[in-house]
Amino acid sequence: MNNKMMDLEADDKRYVWHPFTQMKDYLEEQPLIIEKGKGSFLWDIHGNRYLDGISSLWVTVHGHCREEIDNAIVEQVKMVSHSTLLGLTHPPAIALAGKLVEITPEGLNKVFYSDSGSTAVEIGLKMAFQYRLQKSDGASSKKRFISLRNAYHGDTVGAVSVGGIDLFHQIYRPLLFDSPKVESPYCYRCNLERTYPSCNMECLGHAEMVMEKHCHETAALIIEPLVQGAAGMLISPPGYLKGIKELCTKYNILMIADEVAVGFGRTGKMFACEHEDVIPDILILGKGITGGYLPLAATIVTDEIYSAFLGEYDEFKAFFHGHTYTGNPVA
Ligand SMILES: Cc1ncc(COP(=O)(O)O)c(C=O)c1O
Repeated sequence: MNNKMMDLEADDKRYVWHPFTQMKDYLEEQPLIIEKGKGSFLWDIHGNRYLDGISSLWVTVHGHCREEIDNAIVEQVKMVSHSTLLGLTHPPAIALAGKLVEITPEGLNKVFYSDSGSTAVEIGLKMAFQYRLQKSDGASSKKRFISLRNAYHGDTVGAVSVGGIDLFHQIYRPLLFDSPKVESPYCYRCNLERTYPSCNMECLGHAEMVMEKHCHETAALIIEPLVQGAAGMLISPPGYLKGIKELCTKYNILMIADEVAVGFGRTGKMFACEHEDVIPDILILGKGITGGYLPLAATIVTDEIYSAFLGEYDEFKAFFHGHTYTGNPVA
């Protein structure tokens, strides 16, 4: 190992705090330092090659170092690297929004950008909440969110509130808002007593019980369509997603589909909702949206939701949310 490699390893341990990592253990091991990638492979600083079996956290849907993407980024950098979307716009934001509307399920027509799956989830939750208030002139009691046990929607406080993985989320409970939980639609790790053939009926039956009880106070239900990813790839039984959508309609609950993990072809169709012809009210996209190149996410909504935010300036119905890098043109 040469000096440069030794410096990298030492400096990583000296300066970097790694996510979801017990640093005490980490400090005792030799860090794996990735230096380059091509296609499905990564190489470390010692020249060892690895199959990137996790697609660098489920993002590299086109592989590492795709020439077309590399070139497009260079072209955009030569034009402008950042310009805000707060009251201004730029050609890449316009082009991508049009493309997203074209390829996402019918009726999802307005694209709100952000920079991670978690922020896109926060935006979806805040939009659903504000939509309810503005549709009812502030009188709505529908302010809560139903979510699933074992769900993972990101690490910001709103996203954790609708999360359901105790290992990650329990410690933060005092910081969170409470969200009624539907059991995971998964026979082998669920608290419902049942057998596989009746699974779907029982899952939906349980979901209906929760939705019926809380519908008067619920703005929206959030779900990872078909696969609860971070929970360990828990696959919903066929028909479950469609059943949930029907229950949302029945109980006047908005449906937020979090396709951060499953979007962009991961389940064999461009979006997992397409498998069951489900059109959510709010669709959340991230990860594969940039093929792993840059942080970008999108929250896409129906005209019905968007129109509830229109009004005179002094009615203050605007969506007061936006990140510094919202809709970054290079991303
Ligand atoms: C379904 C789902 N939603 C949201 C997120 C959060 O995305 P990010 O890590 O980009 O904030 C993830 C991340 O794994 C996810 O799997």
